[in-house]
Amino acid sequence: MASVIIAGVGSYAPERILTNADLSKMVDTSDEWIRTRSGIRERHIAADNEATSDLAIKAAVAAMADANVKAEEIDLLIVATCTPDYPLPATACVVQHKLGVPPHATCFDISAACTGFLYATEIAYGQLLTNRYKCALVIGAEKLSSIVNWKDRTTCVLFGDGAGAAVLKKVDQSGVGIIGSDLGADGEMMELLYTPAGGSRTPASPLTVEAGGHFLHMKGKEVFKNAVRVMETVAREMVEQHHLTFDQINLVIPHQANYRIIESLAGSLGVPLERVYVNLDRYGNTSAASIPLALDEARRAGRIKPGDYTLLVAFGAGLTYGSTLIRW
Ligand code: ACO
Repeated sequence: MASVIIAGVGSYAPERILTNADLSKMVDTSDEWIRTRSGIRERHIAADNEATSDLAIKAAVAAMADANVKAEEIDLLIVATCTPDYPLPATACVVQHKLGVPPHATCFDISAACTGFLYATEIAYGQLLTNRYKCALVIGAEKLSSIVNWKDRTTCVLFGDGAGAAVLKKVDQSGVGIIGSDLGADGEMMELLYTPAGGSRTPASPLTVEAGGHFLHMKGKEVFKNAVRVMETVAREMVEQHHLTFDQINLVIPHQANYRIIESLAGSLGVPLERVYVNLDRYGNTSAASIPLALDEARRAGRIKPGDYTLLVAFGAGLTYGSTLIRW
């Protein structure tokens, strides 16, 4: 019986920190409003000359060192991002070249916003089990500061930049690693969170730029309501499907968008907040990077031990959503 395990994890956040106090000098907001409405205190912002691939590479190098894997061993490389370096080619190809991953590797990006790392992990899991691949590198990386409208206080206070990565391998052992995954999407709600211009429906033009069409647009309240609902459903289904109870889940790592969403999720699942990992106070919402960044931190903080169950649960633009159950 074979399983797919997470053999190593790593993360990276850019050096520059933007605090709520800094933001209050840029838009009409306050540290108090941002903290009480979102739980965020500060976020990391990439330098002008740092692109998503630069953040991704740093997280990947850390994950490869953790897994004791060399670039030559990777034959599947997936980058989950909604802020790619370029519309084309895939950011995964930029990462491949700079990391020295060999040309026979399969390299591509996926676009599932904040659920991206879970989608990418599920794809890698399935591919490793086919035996066509031996070692996968899955990265969630974002430079959201490049699509945020820094004049819009309703969105700019919520997002940050960062990257997280995991090395996945198949092992001849049953009941370890990725135990289950449940992913979904509801495209009917796509306009709750989207970038209206710059794609094939409304290509870039001076008019679209002037109208701010290349920035992220969000209906925050509706996203909030749906986030709590879908995350609770997929978390509950995952635990029930595996004949477990939430008492047996050692750590829940939710997508880090808003502390109130996390608190409400934990309350409805009956999981005490001590067993829920939270780092959004220091990073804000880093979309596809959010869960692997938190996973790496949690592991380094000793919050994950051999034999533990960890439940990842996410939602994002699409609206996409999902949960992944891991046994270490
Ligand atoms: N500073 C001060 N006041 C503000 C700010 C701000 N930064 N932003 C909004 N306000 C004002 C509003 O204008 C409004 O004023 P009004 O009552 O005079 O109209 C008031 O504060 C309340 O605004 P609401 O939108 O009702 O505030 P709410 O409590 O809903 O919080 C928030 C807003 C934080 C955006 C919340 O709805 C939320 O977190 N939603 C989920 C967003 C999310 O998770 N997005 C990520 C999805 S994942 C992905 O794929 C990227």
